[in-house]
Amino acid sequence: MHSFQSQHLEALARAEASLAAAQERVAQDRWRLRYHVAAPAYWINDPNGFSFYRGEYHLFYQHHPYSVEWGPMYWGHVKSKDLVHWEHLPIALAPSEDYDRDGCFSGSAIEHEGKLWLMYTGNVWTGEDRDEDLKQVQALAYSEDGVHFEKYIGNPVIEAAPEGNIHPFHFRDPKIWQHEDIYYCILGSQTTDRQSGQVLLYRSADLINWTFISVIAGGQETTEKLGYMWECPDLFALGDQDVLVCSPQGMAKDGDLYHNLHQSGCMLGKLDYATGKFEHGDLQLLDYGFDFYAPQTTLDEQGRRIVIAWMAMWEDKMPEQARGWAGAMTIPRVLTIEDGQIRTRPLPELSKLRGKSVHYTNEKLLSSLAANSQSVEPDSSIYTGRQFAGVSGEYTELEIEFEAGTATSFGIAMRVGESSGEETVLSYDCQQQKLTLDRERSGAGSGGIRRAPLSLQNGILKLRIFIDRSSVEVFAGDGEVAMSARIYPGVDSTGIRFFAKDGETLLKSVDCWTLDQ
Ligand code: FRU
Repeated sequence: MHSFQSQHLEALARAEASLAAAQERVAQDRWRLRYHVAAPAYWINDPNGFSFYRGEYHLFYQHHPYSVEWGPMYWGHVKSKDLVHWEHLPIALAPSEDYDRDGCFSGSAIEHEGKLWLMYTGNVWTGEDRDEDLKQVQALAYSEDGVHFEKYIGNPVIEAAPEGNIHPFHFRDPKIWQHEDIYYCILGSQTTDRQSGQVLLYRSADLINWTFISVIAGGQETTEKLGYMWECPDLFALGDQDVLVCSPQGMAKDGDLYHNLHQSGCMLGKLDYATGKFEHGDLQLLDYGFDFYAPQTTLDEQGRRIVIAWMAMWEDKMPEQARGWAGAMTIPRVLTIEDGQIRTRPLPELSKLRGKSVHYTNEKLLSSLAANSQSVEPDSSIYTGRQFAGVSGEYTELEIEFEAGTATSFGIAMRVGESSGEETVLSYDCQQQKLTLDRERSGAGSGGIRRAPLSLQNGILKLRIFIDRSSVEVFAGDGEVAMSARIYPGVDSTGIRFFAKDGETLLKSVDCWTLDQ
């Protein structure tokens, strides 16, 4: 064994011991998510290396196994046969070499000659200023069993950023794929003046020798303000188009849009592999909620494009840190393109989690002017609205159909606490044609309101909502809108209420399931 391998193994063993000492306490936390991926303990961020290898899905994640804060990055690892039930595996990558001393940053995975290969960014701080004093290179690791990974002896395989209007050090998050016997890789980047994000395209015959082709999007060609750095790019064919996913940092707010610190979206277009040109449309958000960043996709066994993102946002409050963990993944979602728009729907197989259920149809929701309704915000539903026996819970799926009727707005309050006054409110404004997710009164953590444009279909609003102990993920319409949020209610806040304002709405149907692993 090379000495560098034993160095890596030692770093992995130390990290596992750190997790083992903390995970029992973390498992008891009442905010711990039941059916979402999170680390056994401590910090996680981006999904990495999402792939299918020898009959199983592998998902890695940026991980700091020593504290609830971001730090030198490791790759945590889970696998699944069905994308629904996940099994924890040992940490796959640890920073252990000169070129990745301060972190194995984000990257991706691909099967090549029977092995599972990871390509990631080695990060090194070269001084005090974390924005300027860094060196990033691209490196490989591989595994024969999908569990134990060795770093490639010839690392790094991309040692420096290309010449041109390309920042020499902010150069990261390789996503690899194969197209007609050639490997391609894209990297997140920015211009040398650090004003515009961009994506770099590379080509390789063997995963080891890489040739820079072009800047495929962003950079000098950016006509609108799409942020100063694009992180975690992904590119794949979907139907007869190509989709470029990226996470732009620093986009300015625009009306209801881009209120998070950073965004994640996609551009539909066509990549010309011969010229390296990607003609594309505007950025479309992949999620209109609070907590969705650095999404990564894989192709599943059935040829569906599945996306998972980090369900958190940089620099936001994470109340679970006080309980020994920080961050989680979203549920897997299926991407399609319909009418020129990206659509997002929850993975159908999540229905395997369904347990006890109740079902109601054709219930009238009348405008409810509660005694205290004057004293609260217009969007509020505190203590108003109808409840239905069995429709409640903290790990729950809801499938709902509203017929808007004469109401000016209608919706649902979740995680309602009768004594605490907590609630997380999803409401639809019929005049403005907007869906609003309001976590101002959700409990601990950040509040805030997010809005998404959405038209009703023949007066009908369809919703699928996944509630876990400290999260809610909303899918509205026919895949047009997804909204994700971490919320931190008290354990007694399990109520669900349905409401209409200034008129009558018909709750055509509601199905509620308890979800369990
Ligand atoms: C995105 C990101 C990546 C980087 C990683 C470091 O959230 O900043 O660009 O590789 O996190 O953990």
